[in-house]
Amino acid sequence: MKTFKVGIIGATGMVGQRFAILLENHPWFQVTLLAASARSAGKTYEEAVGSRWAMPKPMPQALRNLVVRDASQEMEAIAKEVDFVFCAVDMPKDQIKKLEEDYAKLECPVISNNSAHRGTPDVPMIVPEINPEHAEVISAQRKRLGTKRGFIAVKSNCSLQSYVPALHPLMEEFGVTEALACTYQAISGAGKTFETFPEIVDNVIPFIGGEEEKSELEPLKIWGKIEDGRILNAETPSITTQCLRVPVSDGHTAAVFVRFAKKPSLEEVKARWAAFRGAPQELELPSAPKQFLHYFEEDNRPQAKLDRDLENGMAVSIGRLREDRQYDYKFVCLSHNTVRGAAGGAVLMAELLAAKGYLD
Ligand SMILES: NC(=O)c1ccc[n+]([C@@H]2O[C@H](COP(=O)([O-])OP(=O)(O)OC[C@H]3O[C@@H](n4cnc5c(N)ncnc54)[C@H](OP(=O)(O)O)[C@@H]3O)[C@@H](O)[C@H]2O)c1
Repeated sequence: MKTFKVGIIGATGMVGQRFAILLENHPWFQVTLLAASARSAGKTYEEAVGSRWAMPKPMPQALRNLVVRDASQEMEAIAKEVDFVFCAVDMPKDQIKKLEEDYAKLECPVISNNSAHRGTPDVPMIVPEINPEHAEVISAQRKRLGTKRGFIAVKSNCSLQSYVPALHPLMEEFGVTEALACTYQAISGAGKTFETFPEIVDNVIPFIGGEEEKSELEPLKIWGKIEDGRILNAETPSITTQCLRVPVSDGHTAAVFVRFAKKPSLEEVKARWAAFRGAPQELELPSAPKQFLHYFEEDNRPQAKLDRDLENGMAVSIGRLREDRQYDYKFVCLSHNTVRGAAGGAVLMAELLAAKGYLD
């Protein structure tokens, strides 16, 4: 595989920092450009991030003195200097939509963590183990945008990154008809740490703006089908969620209840999880977890603190599968929200797109 020059738009933020450390020593992607708002532009990365550095590892040495660029004002130059960009910015949705389309139209592919384009029918929202074939819609998107190379591909919301992978291997054979998920979401999902979000200590906040809508609708796009150059959402399963913010630094947990058309045995569910492999494992992509879904037999697992970093934060942990009085089964699952749920998921998607030639 050739080496790609990569830019990070929103490099100073929580997800941007995650990209910076995940891409340090990446075999295919070399970060050569960092961009953020006018507030950071012109400063070195180290100066621009300052005390906001929230990663468990130090800032990569190679990036410390890189001068941060203005993502909006220097778009044409940025698009020329890199092969593609990762994008994770905190801006109004209409501005993000325009920013990402402008980069794509400048023939710079955009791998995005933002929600702005998740509803755009010809923009694929790819969980590489689940719907790699949705990349095929990129040709229709390129036609609409009038581009040869440029396109946008998006990462789904972090909340669903634990329960959608757990439900997926059960869908075809057993027909998941209804799922209920209550999520217990980490503060890094709001771009916060305990220092910047002291009101979360000893507290639970029962509202995360827009999160329940995303958690209920986005899975239907992921399970959708391409028809006439658009992704048509799946009609089932019916999903309902409640999303709470809890005092955890990293790792979103979900308590899930599920009903099937044809109820499997407990052993069948566990066997499907254990056997599940997708395109990243088949293609041996650099960031792919060897075992995507890990089942814990212990009653007190998965735990955010113990299990979020499983397989470098790229695996999903599941536990407590048991019969339910109202639904067929219930279980608990966990994924690292800024790794698999954000930057790591986007890096894996970019690896998949690179392996399939979409970034050439
Ligand atoms: N945190 C998560 O777990 C998570 C998961 C999935 C998706 N996301 C999504 O990822 C995006 C970023 O989230 P975050 O948690 O990383 O946010 P964050 O920590 O608040 O960082 C926001 C980033 O956006 C940049 N930015 C703000 N206004 C800008 C502008 N006008 N032009 C260019 N850059 C601008 C900031 O640059 P300055 O430093 O210069 O202000 C900073 O780099 C959001 O859309 C979020 O919904 C987050």
